[in-house]
This record gives sequence, structure tokens and C-alpha cells, in this order.
Amino acid sequence: MCGIVGYVGREQAAPILLDGLSKLEYRGYDSAGMAVYDGQHINIQKTMGRLKVLSELTHDGATMPGCVGIGHTRWATHGEPSDVNAHPHYNEDQSIAVVHNGIIENYGDLKTKLEARGYHFLSATDTEVIAHLLDYYYKKCQYNALASISKVVSRVEGSYALGIIFVDQPEYVYSVRKDSPLIVGHGQGGNLIASDVPAVLKYTRDVYFIENDEVAMLSQDNIQFYNLDGEILEKESKHIDWDIHAAEKGGYEHFMLKEIYEQPKTVRDTITPRVSNGEIVIEELGMTDEEIRALKKIHIVACGSAYHTGVTSKYVFEGMARIPVEVDLASEFRYRNPILEEGTLVIVISQSGETADSLAALRLAKSRGVKTLGIVNVVGSSIAREADKVMYTWAGPEISVATTKAYSCQLVAQYLLAMKFAHVRRQITDTELASYLVDLEKLPNQIERLLSNKEKIQKFANRYSGAENVFFIGRGIDYAISLEGSLKLKEISYIHSEAYAAGELKHGTISLIEEGTLVVAVVTQEELYAKTISNIVEVRSRGAVVFSVTNDNNQAMESNADYITYIPRTNKYFTNSLAIIPLQLFGYYVSVCRGLDVDKPRNLAKSVTVE
Ligand code: AGP
Repeated sequence: MCGIVGYVGREQAAPILLDGLSKLEYRGYDSAGMAVYDGQHINIQKTMGRLKVLSELTHDGATMPGCVGIGHTRWATHGEPSDVNAHPHYNEDQSIAVVHNGIIENYGDLKTKLEARGYHFLSATDTEVIAHLLDYYYKKCQYNALASISKVVSRVEGSYALGIIFVDQPEYVYSVRKDSPLIVGHGQGGNLIASDVPAVLKYTRDVYFIENDEVAMLSQDNIQFYNLDGEILEKESKHIDWDIHAAEKGGYEHFMLKEIYEQPKTVRDTITPRVSNGEIVIEELGMTDEEIRALKKIHIVACGSAYHTGVTSKYVFEGMARIPVEVDLASEFRYRNPILEEGTLVIVISQSGETADSLAALRLAKSRGVKTLGIVNVVGSSIAREADKVMYTWAGPEISVATTKAYSCQLVAQYLLAMKFAHVRRQITDTELASYLVDLEKLPNQIERLLSNKEKIQKFANRYSGAENVFFIGRGIDYAISLEGSLKLKEISYIHSEAYAAGELKHGTISLIEEGTLVVAVVTQEELYAKTISNIVEVRSRGAVVFSVTNDNNQAMESNADYITYIPRTNKYFTNSLAIIPLQLFGYYVSVCRGLDVDKPRNLAKSVTVE
């Protein structure tokens, strides 16, 4: 989704804006632009396409002199991707410029009213109403920027993080947010706003996380925060201790490959602090043993891959801890009036912590008075701040749009929770817990082993990179793995792919199987081997080519698949953590082979901050 940056300080703003925007590229965008105050006017340059087009257009920012500016990468919502729809947007006399991340839901109404007052619109965006509305209130509020921003905010419905500059207040950048991420970086000789921390890390590690309806006013040497009544707010900055290099490629061809290879470490980092002397200690959970025993139900709510980890966890929580679990897509949960009774724990899973639907689902759960737990990767993000409790996954910054390492960390975070709950509720003995822990702690090395064997998958990916349709099948946890394997392939290779519960194929989808169709069969659940194999036989007899991901030494597969990749043996609940590795590599190498933009696939955004 859109990214915003802003800078005010001693340096030239445009190169800093371009650099900041480059750190937000991972969010997904189709056009980019900047507005810089040159001492007399606000100049805007904006264009369709990648940031390098904007860099070329402005000679790396050199043609836009000035030390105050705002920048934007746009992921189109209202209005097609085009130069004119790109941000920033001006007001009527070009004395105000605005960048926006989010959606103004009542923009139609506002636009009609503004047009009736004589305002002219150049773009098809919702954002342009903000520029004109600011113009209207700025004049009405006797050129008081804070008062006019408050007025605008009181009139718009939807989500926004805004960066604003005024030609007659050239020493300030203003910013305000509601439900779209925004941080302020406190630099030396200059201050910044941005949608995410990596954009400011080159200049500062001291960052303020802005809450809804807080206004930030930045000048070269000062940062002031206000509420919408214009009262000063005291805020504490947070020191970011991860390194800028964590958000760089470090010699890998793509972020996705780097992140795949980081999994042994990040999975270990997520497990280790929570295991002590043979016990699972999740202090951040803040639940007593009595409260854990009193749990009647768990709802897991998330989107995309995070949702897929929840589908896996349903099998794990129910199988191990015998707690009923419902798993919902956040976009469904929030509108289905779920029954949330006392004794329910709602777990919201999100890498970014900013996904609009997941955040709305969390708020719904909180409004119903049930306990909420966020499993979140981005420290200080909205879901992390708003959930009653937060359990962080220690994946570090994930840049590639296709999640890999955050997914793997979300899985092990949930295994830890399930084991903890199962033990406290006496569903597993001390001996069983000890044996699960041995298997859990082996996972990082086992992932490493799988990664050292990538050539076979690479060859297979080259061979099938021209496939038009691919089906992923499995039963139980293998079905959950299939969901993620299929998403990994389709989102970065643009090959049509579907995941099916293997037993469900014959109820319709099998009609799509023809000579040469690739079927990826995930077969890691021993008690279901025979059942899944019978489905494999069905598709092979209709001409499918079967690639199977199965456990080491599963001889039953040898005569039933055309290609096999083996994963090390582990506990039946943890197989997802291993089986997903060859499937991530498969998606990655197919995308590379097709010459696609692996890290920034078309139409997708890393952080989906609109519903
Ligand atoms: C997966 O590769 C995607 N990037 C996507 O499905 C993602 O998992 C989903 O948008 C949820 O994002 P979140 O974890 O940041 O909430």
C-alpha cells in the first residue's frame, strides 16, 4: 500500500525523500512523487512507474532544490495508476501539498460540496479532496494550520496518514493519522515522517509511533505533538535497535531468497527466549494457569499467509490442547457478527501489525469484552499496541511482499502457545512436553538442512515454470500447508494455482485435471498417508504429474509420485515448518525463471492498510 515520507532540515529534501521512498518500495506501488518547497513555491514532480523513473526525472532529486518536502509511493485505489493520480496533490493555488496513505470513504460527498464552492479537481483520487478541504479550512481558520487540519480530520471518514506542507509555513511539515501507519523520526539537524521505520533508519534510530488523531508538527530542530483540540501531547520516542542492514539484501539476488535463508535464525530467535529449563515461559501472555484452564474457545483471525498459519494451528491447538478453535479470515470475521462468549481468547496474527481487516477484527473482539492476543512481527505497530497482550515473532524486518520468515515464526509462536496450553490443561504429560520441546528445538537445524538442498527444487521449478495450472492437495495439516504453498506460487509467479483438501477434489475440481497437469501433494501426516495416496492415484490416472512433499523414508510414496522431495522427521504437529521450505523455494525459483519481479509482484502490497 502507499508509503509516505516527509523531511524538514538542513539537507536537501529530495534525495532524502527518494531514499526514504526506496525503503518503502516493499509496500507495493505503481507511481511515485515528491513535493519540495524551493524558497518561493512548492514544486511537485510525480510519475507512473518505479521510483527510478522519478529519480531520473529529477536527476536524483537535484532538480528539486529545497530543504522541506514530502514524498509518496502510490498503490492505486481510487483512479487508475497514472501521472495525474500520483501524489502529492495540490490545492487550487498550489500553496498546499498533500500525500496520503489510506482511503477517504466519503470523498464523493466532500467532492460534490467542494465543487459547489468552486473547487476544481484534476485527478480521480480520493486524496485530492483533502488538499481542497485543507485550503477551505485554512482560510476559514485564519491560516492556522493545526486548526485547519483538525477541521479536515473531523470531516473525513476512512483511514489516513497524511503529510502536508504549506507554502506560507515553509519551516514545517505536518502529519496526522487514523488507522494508517505513521512514525516520526527524530534526526540530527532534521526530522522526518514515514509510513515505516526503515525509511528513516539511515538518519535516526529515535522514533515516535503516532496514534490515531495525533498531529505532528515538525521543524528542523523540533517536533511537537498535538491532539485534535490543539493541546500539546507529551510522547516518548522509542530507540530502534535493529540494524539498517537487516532491511537490505546482503548479497542475495532478492529479499525473498534472503528471507527464506534467514528462517533457521528467526525461528530459533522466536523459540529460544520462550523456553527455559524444560518449561515454556510466555510472560507476555499475562495469563495465569487458572485463566488458561478456564479457556473455552480460541478464535484465530488473520489474512493471507497469517491466516494459513491459523488453519494449521487449529489442528495443533485442538489436537494437542483439546481447545475448540475457530479460524477466520479477518475480512469475514469483522462482518459476520461472531459469537464471542466469556472464556474466549481471540488471537490476531499479523506480520505488519497494520492490516486493516485484522485491526478491525481486533477492535471488534475488544469491543465485545473478550481477551485478545496479537502475534505480531512489527514492534510498535497498531495491532501490537491495541491488543491486550502481544507476543512478538522475532523475524526482523520482512521486505519481500511474499512472506516467508514471518510465516515460519508465526507457526512456531503458535506451537509454543499450544504446547503451553496443553501442558497447563494437563492434556500432555511432562514427558510429552519434553519430547515436543526436543522436536521444536530441532526445527531450525532441520530447516537449514532443507535449505542446503535447494538444487533439486530449483531444477524442478525450471522444468515446470511454464505450467498454466497447478493444484496443491493434502489432508489435515497437509491441507493447511497446501494453502500456503499455493499462495506462494501464485502471488509471485502469476500461475493459476489452487489448494484443495485432497478428499474434496472429487466433488468438482478433479474435472480440471488433464494430461500433464501439475499436482503438488503434501503427505506428512502418517495416519492420513493411505487416504491421500488414494487421491493421488485418482489424479495420476487422469494424467496428472505428481510432485510430492513427504517425510524421510516414506516408502509408500515412491511408487505413487513422479517427483518427491523429502523433509526430515518431526512431530506430526510441526511438519508445516519443514514442508513449507521446498514450497517457498519452488515459488521463488518459478518466479525467477519467468523473469518476474519476485519481491514486488504486480497488484500486491506488503502492508494492506485498506480493507
Ligand atoms: C503473503 O505472502 C502475503 N504477503 C499476504 O497474504 C499477507 O500474509 C497478508 O496480507 C497478511 O499480512 P499481515 O501478516 O501483515 O497482516
